[in-house]
Amino acid sequence: MALLRLLISLALAFSASGQKIVLTNDDGWAVAIVRAQNDALKTAGYDVVLSCPAINKSGTGSSTTTPTVLTSPCEFNTCPTGSPAEGFNASDTRLNYVNAFPVDAARFGIQTLAPKFFRSKPDLVVSGPNVGNNLGSTVLVSGTVGAASEAALEGIPAVAFSAATGDQVSYTTLTTAPTSAGSKAALIYSQLSVTLLKTLLASSGPILPAGIALNVNYPSTSSCTSAAAFKFVLTRINSNSGATDVQTCGTTHLPTESSVVAKSGCFASVSVFNASTKGDVNPATQAVVLAKLSSLLTCSNQTSRTIK
Ligand SMILES: *[C@@H]1O[C@H](CO)[C@@H](O)[C@H](O)[C@H]1NC(C)=O
Ligand SMILES: *[C@@H]1O[C@H](CO)[C@@H](O)[C@H](O)[C@H]1NC(C)=O
Ligand SMILES: *[C@@H]1O[C@H](CO)[C@@H](O)[C@H](O)[C@H]1NC(C)=O
Ligand SMILES: *[C@@H]1O[C@H](CO)[C@@H](O)[C@H](O)[C@H]1NC(C)=O
Repeated sequence: MALLRLLISLALAFSASGQKIVLTNDDGWAVAIVRAQNDALKTAGYDVVLSCPAINKSGTGSSTTTPTVLTSPCEFNTCPTGSPAEGFNASDTRLNYVNAFPVDAARFGIQTLAPKFFRSKPDLVVSGPNVGNNLGSTVLVSGTVGAASEAALEGIPAVAFSAATGDQVSYTTLTTAPTSAGSKAALIYSQLSVTLLKTLLASSGPILPAGIALNVNYPSTSSCTSAAAFKFVLTRINSNSGATDVQTCGTTHLPTESSVVAKSGCFASVSVFNASTKGDVNPATQAVVLAKLSSLLTCSNQTSRTIK
């Protein structure tokens, strides 16, 4: 009996069951990369609801509006003109679109879909991966980052993911062209995101400090052809030689996310940002994230992952 209880508690500790995720983006609900992320999160055992814009809303930052009836079809003809402002896939009601901005899609996921499907708030909002990196000042116009910021400002921990390889193509390409560079990249990025989220969600205490979110960027998969090739590095969004960051890798100056993603060696950047300003946070807040992700993080001057 004691053994059974031990086994059950171990099983619970190692499964992701019970953790509820709203998945959003700015490229639209039907792009391959976000559907690959949806599949990977479900396979990892998370309870997922997708809530994304009906059409491509790249570059719309934190814009917000009241969702409206579709005056043209959803992207890739996934819904006809005249479809309701918010809609879903009739054979998989967890796949939802919102005909408005990324912020509105995130809000609908948190405020309407989470109570319906989870009977609670989500534990986490995942935004992306976006097609294309969002580095440095680009975060200010990124809808991917805008949606994650909205979640954090509503009190829900959030991570924005953006990726170098891939195009805004239909989710159907994942099955019709599984060996295309984009399909393979979508799978690699989605696995990496699950790895980061598992580490984050397994850490003790609040998932993330209030009012902040993470901005994660993946380099190209052209010479990084498996998830195992990638390493995560703690970074800052904006270059600022005068700023003092958390001490790590032998310094109190974090590298910029742009410099880390541009380096050869398959480095993915992880920046901690203020959801109100979309700027960098103080070293104490960076330190909280560093501690949570320490088993995953490496230094950008290391060429192979340190197994801790
Ligand atoms: C999506 O929108 C962005 C910003 O307007 C634009 O640059 C991009 O080309 C659009 N994508 C497609 C596939 O039309
Ligand atoms: C809706 O879900 C079904 C079943 O999973 C799938 O075959 C179909 O492609 C989906 N369509 C959209 C637009 O998500
Ligand atoms: C975010 O920035 C605002 C404005 O500078 C500041 O008041 C707030 O404390 C910051 N929040 C966090 C969590 O760092
Ligand atoms: C990486 O750089 C830091 C800071 O210069 C240094 O402390 C550390 O030893 C370096 N690590 C490697 C593996 O070179």
